[in-house]
Amino acid sequence: MKRVFSGVQPSGNLTIGNYLGALKQFVELQNESEALYCVVDLHAITVPQDPDDLRRRSREIAKLYLACGVDPNKATVFIQSHVKEHAELGWLLQCSSYMGELNRMTQFKDKSEGKQSVQVGLYTYPVLMAADILLYDATHVPVGDDQKQHIELTRDIAARFNGRFGETFVIPEPQIQEFGARIMALDEPTKKMSKSAENEGARIAILEDPSVFKKKIMRAVTDTENEIRFDEENKPGVSNLLTIYSLFAGESVDTLVARYQGQGYGNLKKDLVEVMTDKLGAIQQRYNELSDTDELDKILAASAERARTIAERTVNRVKDAMGL
Ligand code: ADP
Ligand code: NA
Repeated sequence: MKRVFSGVQPSGNLTIGNYLGALKQFVELQNESEALYCVVDLHAITVPQDPDDLRRRSREIAKLYLACGVDPNKATVFIQSHVKEHAELGWLLQCSSYMGELNRMTQFKDKSEGKQSVQVGLYTYPVLMAADILLYDATHVPVGDDQKQHIELTRDIAARFNGRFGETFVIPEPQIQEFGARIMALDEPTKKMSKSAENEGARIAILEDPSVFKKKIMRAVTDTENEIRFDEENKPGVSNLLTIYSLFAGESVDTLVARYQGQGYGNLKKDLVEVMTDKLGAIQQRYNELSDTDELDKILAASAERARTIAERTVNRVKDAMGL
């Protein structure tokens, strides 16, 4: 049986990068596997958070999962901190992980660079992520390209633990799309689009108003060639727009390139805004329709309960193996 686990941090407004790279896959995978989708609030606190904002955002993200099409009858949707075993297994695995391997994590290097003081949790974050995945015996982890290194580490930690203490963990596979695993920033298409980046013009939030994202698309950095061609190396801006278009419209890049032959970037951008207005509009409408408090609380509580049943079994197995 295929079991899928993935999570998103409540560290900002989810972007179309999060949607196309992760959430869209979540929806597809819930039909063919047992799926658990988590809002990883314990990861968000690796950088300072306002408590009220964090609480509100965690629930908003759970709601957004549902608006994007995650079905609580098919998938387990919960908030990480509601299942205490994440923290517990996180510690147990920290004692099976090495500073040498954490020192190689590029996300830590990026996020800590130039900072005067950095929380210890930001450094050990990948071990908590390993715990999140291993807790549920996940076989597949749908993520964007930026998480590849963390999944590799998870595999290393699991295999080493199994070698030392006996078969305990399932070794998970990253499930990274061949296409769309890395949506780039609109203002600087050599960088990944991120919900926590400084510049607002770099990203588009899933819940953003069309009038706002229209401006961002129309201003998106391209090149002076004015030729529509897919070439990520030499034409990262145009290629990024084609990728976004293709994923939202469900049409291949080749089809789009053929359609826009001889046309300028303006037409491509204008049509992309229309496609996005349509697709994001539907998500936004569902999001606004979702009854806010009681219903969501019920779903989250039932899901956390289901998750906890699996998580407890795993932690018991791990503690037994370690002599605890
Ligand atoms: P962010 O990096 O935007 O803060 P997270 O770290 O919470 O987001 O990642 C949530 C999921 O979204 C992960 O699976 C991640 O790989 C994916 N993701 C994030 N940014 C992008 C992007 N620009 N393109 C594709 N997938 C992305
Ligand atoms: Na990320």
